[in-house]
Amino acid sequence: MFGGAIFDEDRLISSSYQKDDNEIENSLRPKSLDEYIGQTQVKEQLDIFIKAARLRGEQLDHVLLYGPPGLGKTTLSAIIANEMGANFKITSGPAIGHSGDLAAILTNLMDNDVLFIDEIHRLNRTVEEILYPAMEDGCLDIIIGKGPSARSIRLDLPKFTLVGATTRSGMLTSPLRDRFGVILNLDLYDPEDLFKIINRSAGILGVEIDDESGVELARRSRGTPRIANRLLKRVRDYAQVRGDGSITLGTARDALTMFQVDEEGLDMVDKRLMLAIINKFSGGPVGVETLAASVGEDRETIEEVYEPYLIQKGFLDRTPRGRVATETAYEHFGIKRARD
Ligand SMILES: Nc1ncnc2c1ncn2[C@@H]1O[C@H](COP(=O)(O)OP(=O)(O)O)[C@@H](O)[C@H]1O
Ligand SMILES: [Mg+2]
Repeated sequence: MFGGAIFDEDRLISSSYQKDDNEIENSLRPKSLDEYIGQTQVKEQLDIFIKAARLRGEQLDHVLLYGPPGLGKTTLSAIIANEMGANFKITSGPAIGHSGDLAAILTNLMDNDVLFIDEIHRLNRTVEEILYPAMEDGCLDIIIGKGPSARSIRLDLPKFTLVGATTRSGMLTSPLRDRFGVILNLDLYDPEDLFKIINRSAGILGVEIDDESGVELARRSRGTPRIANRLLKRVRDYAQVRGDGSITLGTARDALTMFQVDEEGLDMVDKRLMLAIINKFSGGPVGVETLAASVGEDRETIEEVYEPYLIQKGFLDRTPRGRVATETAYEHFGIKRARD
């Protein structure tokens, strides 16, 4: 999904999908809104919309979920289907190459199905145009024949709900965005919610973890449930081999140090990014393109994956003239700002 070297599979803290995530991630996924931790406003809204749709016996309006990777978009879309008592069909922007592929998916839906399109900003334009009438009028326009004898016919589609997920709603074209009745933004989680998520996951995995360690893991999870679960699994491994299997503050800290996740949850790439701003660009401002080139990453990845957390932690500022390292960042890395 994201180009660039930092998304290599071994990067512990990456919030993109990794190999062994699949099966465990499924077992850890909450199945209902009640089980879904945090994101209170999003949950409250969805709860009302779902109940209202059910009372009217209608399908739910189309929903757009956006936010950084690993925050629970896929999970939430499955929950929507579950709570609606509907079938859940899943695909993604890059997987739909031609408009014919999308037409086939749409015509195979049944009434009330929830169709999830992950990375919906990556649909190509011709495919996207099929979606407009499908979302708005519940129909599909197809062209039959070629040249002067070509004619267009309209097919009625089943009444479905589209749930789209994207890392940034700004990347969607406005005609597409406008066709979603419900647009919900997922934010980075606070440590209290991550603590609950870690304890819930530990319960499912059968790992013993004390509160101090839970707090420590929560603090270092970059505000991201996927990372929280991943750290939990890795620390569990460490505790099994180096300790008695239960996670204590000592084992948690040792493990995280070994995995090069620092006390603020920053990993090697975060550090590389911040140190580039500080050392190569005298603390900034530096344009995001220049910064991206200097650390060998693409702009998208920096903006979607790294910056939200660094900004939340107060290490980085986005200014009109570019990115700036804050005083907090200088302190964190123990670097004195050169006088200018
Ligand atoms: N609100 C939440 N409560 C508990 N676990 C969550 C929550 N959100 C996400 N998770 C966990 O994080 C993992 C990643 O979530 P996912 O829905 O795949 O993220 P996204 O689709 O936004 O990248 C899931 O396996 C799930 O176990
Ligand atoms: Mg997902």
